[in-house]
Order: sequence, then C-alpha cells, then structure tokens
Amino acid sequence: MDLALIQAAYIIAAILFILSLAGLSRHETAKDGNVLGMVGMAVALAATLWLAGRTAEWSNWVLIAVAMAIGASIGIWRARRVEMTGMPELIAMLHSFVGLAAVLVGYNSYLADPAGADGVHLVEVFLGVFIGAVTFTGSIVAFLKLSARISSRPLMLPRRHWLNLAAVVTSSGLLVWFVASHTLAPLVLMTAIALAFGWHLVASIGGGDMPVVVSMLNSYSGWAAAAAGFMLGNDLLIVTGALVGSSGAYLSYIMCKAMNRSFVSVIAGGFGSDGAVSNADVDYGEHRETNAEDVADLLTHASSVVITPGYGMAVAQAQYPVAELTAKLRERGVAVRFGIHPVAGRLPGHMNVLLAEARVPYDIVLEMDEINADFPDTDVVLVIGANDTVNPAAAEDPTSPIAGMPVLEVWKAKQVIVFKRSMAAGYAGVQNPLFFRDNSAMLFGDAKERVEDIIKAL
Ligand code: TAP
Repeated sequence: MDLALIQAAYIIAAILFILSLAGLSRHETAKDGNVLGMVGMAVALAATLWLAGRTAEWSNWVLIAVAMAIGASIGIWRARRVEMTGMPELIAMLHSFVGLAAVLVGYNSYLADPAGADGVHLVEVFLGVFIGAVTFTGSIVAFLKLSARISSRPLMLPRRHWLNLAAVVTSSGLLVWFVASHTLAPLVLMTAIALAFGWHLVASIGGGDMPVVVSMLNSYSGWAAAAAGFMLGNDLLIVTGALVGSSGAYLSYIMCKAMNRSFVSVIAGGFGSDGAVSNADVDYGEHRETNAEDVADLLTHASSVVITPGYGMAVAQAQYPVAELTAKLRERGVAVRFGIHPVAGRLPGHMNVLLAEARVPYDIVLEMDEINADFPDTDVVLVIGANDTVNPAAAEDPTSPIAGMPVLEVWKAKQVIVFKRSMAAGYAGVQNPLFFRDNSAMLFGDAKERVEDIIKAL
C-alpha cells in the first residue's frame, strides 16, 4: 500500500514538473510555473522521505534531516543575498553540485557491491560518474568565468580538439576494462580524465559563446541527475533528470540559433576564436556625447521609441526608472516598445525577468525577430546598458569574434542614444562601431541615474 502511494506521489510530482516547465515558457504564466515546480519538489521530497522511512534505520533519518537542514539553510541564505546580476554564476555553482552528487552516488553505488554488480549497472555507474565529473568541473569554470574571477577569454591549447577526442576514446576503453574487471582502477582513471575534460571544454569557450555553455551545463546536470536515478533505482529522479536534460538541450539549441552558432562547434570549444581578431584597436573616429536634457527633448518630439536593454540595465538596476519613463512617454502618446535580444544580459530571459519585475506591460516587450524590421521606422532607440547585442560588427565585419551573431539592428533607426559609463567593450571584448555612427550619441554614467535625470527633465 505504502509503495503504491509513493509511486502515485512520484507520478503527481512528475506531472507538476512538466506543468511547471510549460508555465515557465511564457511571461504571463511563469510565476504559476514556479509555484507548480515548488509544490512538485515538496511532494517528491515528502515521498522520498517516506520511502526512506520504510527501509532505513532511524539514524539514517537523522542524517537526512541534518543534511536537509544544512542544505536548506545555505540555499535560503544564498537565494536571499544574491543580486539579479549574480544569478548566472549561482546557477553554474548549483549545476556543479548536481555533477558532484552524481559522482558520489556512482562511487557509493559501485562500492556497495563491486563484485556482485551486473554489467548494466556498471555501465550506469561509469556513465553517471563521467557525466557528473564533466558537469562538476565544467560548471566550476563557468562559475569562475561568469563571476569574472578568471578571464572569459577562450583557452587555446594546441591540438585541443585532439585532446578532447583522446579523452572520449580513452574513457570508452576504460569502460570496457571496468565492465570486464569490476575493479576500481578504471573508474578512478576515468574520473580524473572526465574532471580534466570538463574543465578544458568550458575553459576553451570564449565569452560570447557563454550563453550556450550555461544552458548546456544545465542540460548536463539533468543527465547527471537521470544517471543518478538509474543507479539508485529512483524513477522520479530519472524522469526529472531527463526533463532538465532535454529542456536544457533544447535551450542550448535556441541559444545556438540565436547566435548563429553550430551546437557541435560550440561544445567542441573555441568556435569563432580561430583567426578572429578583436577590433579594439580599430579607429572608428570620434563619438558624440549628449546629456539628459537633450535626450528628454528628443523623446518629447518622437512618435516611436524602442528601448533595447542589456546587461548594464541589470547592473544599474535601472528597470524601475525605465518602466517609469516608459509609462510617462506612453501617457504623452509616444509609442514605446522594447526589443529583447535572446542573449542580452547573462541569463536566458534575463531582461524579460527584470522588465516583468518592474511591471512593464508584456505586450510591448518584443523579441529581436519581431522588432528588427521596425528599426528604420523608429525615431529614437534607447540602448540601455547593451553592447554586444547591438553591435553592427556582428553583421558587417566577418573578422569579428561575434561575426554572424544576429543582433538588434538599432543603427537603422533615426537616432540612437547609448547609455553606458565609458567607451569600454562588451562581454565579448569587441569594440562597438555603433558608438561612432553619425546617428548615435553617448549618454555616459550609471544607467539608472541617467534615466532618472531624463524623467526629471521631461
Ligand atoms: P554586454 O555586451 O555585456 O555589455 C553591457 C554593457 O553595459 C557594457 O558595455 C557596460 O559598459 C554597460 N554597463 C555596465 N554597467 C553599467 C551601468 N551601471 N550603467 C550603464 N551601463 C553599464 O551586454 P549585452 O548587450 O546584454 O550582451 C550580453 C553579452 O553577454 C553577450 O556577449 C552574451 O553572449 C554574453 N552572455 C550572455 C548570457 C546569456 S544566457 N544571456 C550568458 C553569458 C554571457 P560600461 O562598462 O562602459 O558601462
């Protein structure tokens, strides 16, 4: 009876996770999606504890309770403290925990009965540890890069593709040895190779391609969890891991499409970096500066305005004044819309979350593909803390490291105002010729303060 109830709870949790993913796919339903996911996880935890209660000693219960209390306290503490700009690195760190968990579950599962395990179980253990170890070190490098603790430049080891291939081929050989011998040595050797492989895979990916890496590690962490589910014989973990793995893979595909990259090239590392040169030293001429009063004047006389936010809006926390400015202009009859690049910011959907937080109406927030054709008919574009995602070099300079990446074609508008603090390059380290165009003007300073100045001047 107990077991049937636990199975039922697992099915309910799995359905709630699927509904949660469906909810997260649209702005309007994203909050409900989160709630469904949380309820699903609570059901899953309760059922798993109940299952443990049927089979485990009371001392195991104490261990589980202590582990959950420590984990929950650290989780709540970090989640309360994290800034929106720190979310990507926090997520990368969480992915590394899933990878480490899969490695530990694999070793535990193997060491419980090394001689008696059948071939299928040994393959499960081997693959689980391999995926877990790659996810673990790959996520740590992503964490270090995203939090700027190490440079986001790609590591270009000589013959790096051969190194990757050697790691995969050697690990396949070790799998055969492991299944044939049931000994620990091939497992330990493969773990060392997989840890180095994960590190190298992400280290060799350049700054501009990091969005794909984040979603790819998300996918790996799902497959690592699914592998742990196989080793533990836990159906819910298999289903949940597969959901995370496949949705992460699909997100990676969307990111690749958004950046016009081939998925295989990105995961093989360093795509777009061979022979591509940063244009930091190119002389594009003089830039023009403007001030808040002049921008307020320009906006008052405009009939159509498009705002393209980027990472700088998140840093400045400018979304609230941006929402206020939008409301004020709309009251005056100006048509204001937002153009969102799929990889603007540092997280998929980063800008959408910020704008939703500031209660910008969803119907004026458009995707890049929906707005790009409208720029020639736009009076003023406000580029608020965006850089790589509005860089014309991506479309016009085949030698640029971001060549081929579709961008918001803001330079086609009548006037472009760029909000940033300096002439510094964006995340990909590429200079932006937009800043030097005749129809562009720079509004220097913190984006939040400058937008507030414009509101005052209106
Ligand atoms: P970025 O190219 O990162 O540029 C952001 C700009 O904001 C910088 O040039 C910076 O210039 C400015 N800025 C920073 N703080 C500011 C502040 N307080 N006030 C005003 N401006 C400020 O932005 P983007 O256009 O959003 O492009 C995103 C980049 O990140 C892409 O290269 C993308 O591939 C990468 N990436 C994206 C993701 C995802 S999933 N979205 C994940 C990892 C990496 P100043 O320093 O001069 O102010």
